[in-house]
Amino acid sequence: MSIITMATTKGGAGKTTVAQMIIGAVHNLGYSIGVVDTDENQTLSNWLDSNTNMAIDYKVVLEESKVVEVAQKMSRKHDLVIIDTPGAQSQASVFAIGCADLVIVPLQLSKADVVQAQKTYELVKSTAHMTSRTIPAQLLFTNYTPKTKIAKKVRQQVKELGLPTFNTRFHHLVAYKELTFSGKIPRKGTAGAQGQLLVQEIADLGLMPFLQEFRRAS
Ligand SMILES: Nc1ncnc2c1ncn2[C@@H]1O[C@H](COP(=O)(O)OP(=O)(O)OP(=O)(O)O)[C@@H](O)[C@H]1O
Ligand SMILES: [Mg+2]
Repeated sequence: MSIITMATTKGGAGKTTVAQMIIGAVHNLGYSIGVVDTDENQTLSNWLDSNTNMAIDYKVVLEESKVVEVAQKMSRKHDLVIIDTPGAQSQASVFAIGCADLVIVPLQLSKADVVQAQKTYELVKSTAHMTSRTIPAQLLFTNYTPKTKIAKKVRQQVKELGLPTFNTRFHHLVAYKELTFSGKIPRKGTAGAQGQLLVQEIADLGLMPFLQEFRRAS
């Protein structure tokens, strides 16, 4: 029904981690999820295959011209499809952006993250233009250290660049690393709360029909 694409041309920014957290939170709510993994490292699909006990329908799609077809087919079967993309500019990312209802652009607190997040945001805009669609995109801070000078500086830069950003931030927490081994998505504690807050914010955007009942009045 709905497609969320994780994208940024910066490697290691947190795309797969954010995908894992959304999958966990949406799965907890009882909705069905499909995953399209376009990263040749297959981090997300390997994790789904061997670490978790969530029954998630996933497909690895390394042939970029097949990304849209597979994602749309999956979206007819599931409430939500998540597309994970590689950490570099790729044809696969363009196709994954082109069929998305929402693009999430994770970034950390560094200059390169801001530069690549902006570049990715521009890529979303030009893909939207090319496909004559509106493709909403929002930045999400990951590995975030609150109350630091660098956090303030990066937030200010992002604001000046006019890049829309989620209020939810994924803090620098060991829980986000632990899930890569345990396969268990935190439901409690700070990480659990941040995952739920992100899904709430996504619901509030009003872009995901399956989350309509959770949408808070604006
Ligand atoms: N909020 C966080 N706190 C602590 N560690 C984090 C956090 N977010 C991500 N990480 C760790 O940072 C590393 C990179 O994260 P991740 O794999 O999600 O990035 P990615 O954008 O998918 O990378 P790639 O471009 O290689 O696909 C991983 O080891 C992950 O566990
Ligand atoms: Mg990844």
